[in-house]
Amino acid sequence: MKITPSTILEKLPSGIFLDLANRKQELLKKGVDVIDLSVGSPDLPPSPLVTETIAKYSSDPLNYGYTLKGTAEFSEAVSYFYKQRYNVDIIAEKEVLQLMGSQDGLSHLALALVNPGDYVLVPDPGYPIYEASVAIAGAEAYPMPLHEENDFLPVLEDIPAEVLAKAKLMILSYPGNPIPALADRRFFEKVVAFAKKHEILVLHDFAYSELIFDNRPQISFMSVEGAKEVGIEFNSLSKTFNMAGCRIGYAVGNEQAIRILAAFKSHIDYGIFLPIQKAAVAALTSDFVDLADRVKIYENRRDTLIEGLNQSGWQVKSSPATMFVWAKIPEGWTSRDFAFQLLDHAGVAVVPGDAFGKQGEGYVRIALVQQAERLAEAAGRIREFLKVRVEV
Ligand SMILES: Cc1ncc(COP(=O)(O)O)c(C=O)c1O
Repeated sequence: MKITPSTILEKLPSGIFLDLANRKQELLKKGVDVIDLSVGSPDLPPSPLVTETIAKYSSDPLNYGYTLKGTAEFSEAVSYFYKQRYNVDIIAEKEVLQLMGSQDGLSHLALALVNPGDYVLVPDPGYPIYEASVAIAGAEAYPMPLHEENDFLPVLEDIPAEVLAKAKLMILSYPGNPIPALADRRFFEKVVAFAKKHEILVLHDFAYSELIFDNRPQISFMSVEGAKEVGIEFNSLSKTFNMAGCRIGYAVGNEQAIRILAAFKSHIDYGIFLPIQKAAVAALTSDFVDLADRVKIYENRRDTLIEGLNQSGWQVKSSPATMFVWAKIPEGWTSRDFAFQLLDHAGVAVVPGDAFGKQGEGYVRIALVQQAERLAEAAGRIREFLKVRVEV
C-alpha cells in the first residue's frame, strides 16, 4: 500500500528549514562545533515561580483530568496582565481565549473564519504559519510586501481592490518574526480605519510584546481606539516567560471572533494541563521584575552581535525588539547561498530570509538564542568568513 500526503500538505513549504536542519545534523555528526542561531526558541529558563507552581500542582493526582478550556482564573490573569503592561481593558469572561501556544490560534483561525476563495492578507516576509494556515483552510494568501524603505510596514493603498473585495482577514505582527520592526500608534489607527472600511478582521500577533528594547513603547494593537471592533491579538507565555515547551498562550479582543475560534477549538482539543495553567496565572500576575532583567540580557546579546558584525565591515542594523536580527546580506549572494556557506565554512547556522517569503530574499535571520560570549564568537567566525569570501 502506498500512503501519500494530501494535496494540502504537499502545498505547505518546509523545504528550507528541513534542508538547514539536515545540513546542521551532518556537520554535528562530523564533530563540527555549530553555533546554532537558527531557531527562535528561548534558551533562558523560566522563573522559579513557574517551575515551583508546576511542581506543586502536578503532584496532586486530581489535576490530571481534561481541563476542556482555560480556567476563569487564567482569563482574569490575562486581563490583569493586559491592564498592567499595555493599559488595555479586557473583559475576562468574553474577550479572552486560552490557546495551546499562539501557534494553536494561528493554525486554526483561518479554518474557523475563512472559506475557499476568500483572501487573507499576510506579511511578506512573515512567520511561516500565517501563510500555511491559509493554505490549510483552502483560501488564498495575499502577501503584503514589507520593505525597509517603508519601515517594514505594509502599504495598505497598494492592495488591489479585487483582493480587498474578497479579503476576510489581515495578519500583522509588530514586533514580528523574522522582522523585529515596531509599528507606531498612527499605523495601527490607519489599520483600524482600513479594516472597518473593508470589513476585514485583523489578527495582531504580539508574541514578542515583552522583548522590546531601549525603553521603546510596547504598543498593543488592542490599545488603539476601535481595535476591538475589528481585531484580536494573540499573545503567548512562550517568549515572555520562557515557557515555550508548556504550550500556553491566548487570544484577546473581539468577542465574536473569540467565540468563533473557541467553537472551532472545542472540536480540536481538550484543554491544557491544569498545573501549566496555574503556572501561567502565577507568571501573569507576578511582579514582572524578571521581564525587565530579561530585556537587558537580550539587549546585551544584540549589541554584542551587532558590534561584532559591524567590525567586519558588514553593517547590520540593530534590532529594536525580539530575539532576532534581520540582516541584509552583502551584494552578490542569494540568502540561501550565504546561509549555507556560512554554515559549511564558519559553523554558524542562520536562516535564509526567503524561508519567510519572497521579500525575504537578500536577508538572513539571526536568532539571539545563545549567551553573549557565544554570539561574540559567532561574530568572529562570520568576520573570518567574510574576509575570505566577500568584499564588504
Ligand atoms: C511571531 C511568532 N508568533 C507565534 C509564535 C508561536 O509561539 P507559541 O505557539 O509558542 O506561542 C512564534 C514562535 O516562534 C513566533 O515567532
